Amino acid sequence: MSPPALVGRTGVVTGASSGIGRALTLCLAARGMRIVAAARSADALRELAREAGGAVHVVETDVTRQESVDELRERARHACGRIDVVVNNAGVGYVEPFVTSPFAHWHETLATNLLGALSVTRAFLPLLREAGGGLVVNVGSASASGWPYVALYAASKAALEAASIAIDREMRGSGVRVLSVEVGPTAGTGFGSRSDPADVAAATRSWTESGIPWTEVSTPDASARKIVDAIEAALVPAGARAADDPGT
Ligand SMILES: NC(=O)c1ccc[n+]([C@@H]2O[C@H](COP(=O)([O-])OP(=O)(O)OC[C@H]3O[C@@H](n4cnc5c(N)ncnc54)[C@H](OP(=O)(O)O)[C@@H]3O)[C@@H](O)[C@H]2O)c1
Repeated sequence: MSPPALVGRTGVVTGASSGIGRALTLCLAARGMRIVAAARSADALRELAREAGGAVHVVETDVTRQESVDELRERARHACGRIDVVVNNAGVGYVEPFVTSPFAHWHETLATNLLGALSVTRAFLPLLREAGGGLVVNVGSASASGWPYVALYAASKAALEAASIAIDREMRGSGVRVLSVEVGPTAGTGFGSRSDPADVAAATRSWTESGIPWTEVSTPDASARKIVDAIEAALVPAGARAADDPGT
């Protein structure tokens, strides 16, 4: 049997202060990884570090600010030496009609979900390459197929997925992979919490009318496990997986 894929590995998780990112950080730490957890809310990060014990190191980070991203990389390098996995999970989303959506929401959504994730990716790629390999996981969304009432959010995730494919191809031969992992609707997170409940109700009606299968709502733990599965699958060589699995 091969050793567990994640034991002794190191990772960075952005957007770790709540929702899926918090659950993901706890899950990866429980599987033996040392995690650098990043977000803007210092109090929530401190509470996460207390809950996780010594395996989680927190760094207050705003992914929309380049100097903050550079500081995250330096502090992660200092805390862990080498980094194996970077998860771009930080994200914001507004549920609202496109025609009345404020430009400020457009800018915040693209700056965080697309440019923030790409800025973190670019900052860490040299570190991963120097170490001879590594993995960037960009958290995608089922809404990227074009869900109404989240046009800018869907656009940010579709663009991030396209960029992930492009960068992954640029990294060919380096040992570094860049993946996008699609996550479906997940309750119990901060997603859409700043939106008008009437707009959210209109959105869910519109999703149903559009034939979108949105009612199978996940939990933060279950969505985090989907990301963990993708990380494990990418880190364990296919040969080792096949040898462990009598069904293959
Ligand atoms: N919930 C869903 O239905 C769903 C479905 C598909 C995909 N997703 C994706 O899953 C990811 C996590 O979302 P969630 O649902 O767990 O929502 P959430 O609870 O609101 O978590 C979002 C996280 O992103 C962080 N964040 C936001 N702006 C940031 C910035 N500028 N710099 C650093 N961190 C920032 C937040 O922390 P601070 O405010 O402390 O910075 C928070 O930790 C997002 O990428 C989201 O698009 C969610």
